[in-house]
Amino acid sequence: MRRKLVAGNWKMNGLGASLAEVDALVAAHPAPACEVLICPPATLIHRLAARAGSAISVGGQDCHAAASGAHTGDISALMLQDAGASHVILGHSERRADHHETDADVRAKAASAMDAGLVAIVCLGETGAERDAGRALAVVAGQVAGSVPEGVNPGALVLAYEPVWAIGTGRTPTLAEIAEVHALMRAELAARFGADAAARVRLLYGGSVKPGNAAAIFAVPDVDGALVGGASLKAADFSAIIAALEGAPA
Ligand code: 13P
Repeated sequence: MRRKLVAGNWKMNGLGASLAEVDALVAAHPAPACEVLICPPATLIHRLAARAGSAISVGGQDCHAAASGAHTGDISALMLQDAGASHVILGHSERRADHHETDADVRAKAASAMDAGLVAIVCLGETGAERDAGRALAVVAGQVAGSVPEGVNPGALVLAYEPVWAIGTGRTPTLAEIAEVHALMRAELAARFGADAAARVRLLYGGSVKPGNAAAIFAVPDVDGALVGGASLKAADFSAIIAALEGAPA
């Protein structure tokens, strides 16, 4: 029912020379058993899409909520789509922190992305202080309520649970903690959109996913794949994570 998805978020990394990593990935996974997505910087979307063919999907890392207009430096969902993207990451904690994006901003961007025919990957997750205060579930539930627009096509929505304290730190929640948050996300979606629609939304885990921990994380119920930062920059590491997802329980 849900096609597994492994997404690489290159963040502000990557020049033309980095496309060699994509060539190596395509050579290793010409017809992957799961969906493989790379979200490079916007400057590389067009070249990456041309290079990756059908083996790898390409996504943006953010979009503006408006379709066009006087917004110097911004990119619309339609522009991403026009450049060859099929997905867009929205509400990443780095954008929520660096650019003060609110749940309402993320919700508007997600609606705009879906209007443009893109799959919206909406990122959620508590800070370390919020987890220590016992508020992780409440924070994530609030972000699901605030960041997911009405009337979604469940096939065009992906939620990525990325605890802020796990990003780039080498630390991850326990498997039980990941399972608890993913079950909560599924339940929040079901309460709002119905069980059938909720069952079609893919839920990713992100935050220090590496070749060494990917298989264990992919075996957690309601984990449909991963959003990978640092380990997506090197073909060998990302390839091992793809292989782990291909071998994960259905
Ligand atoms: P790391 O995999 O480097 O921890 O980054 C996770 C992330 O932020 C993906 O969006």
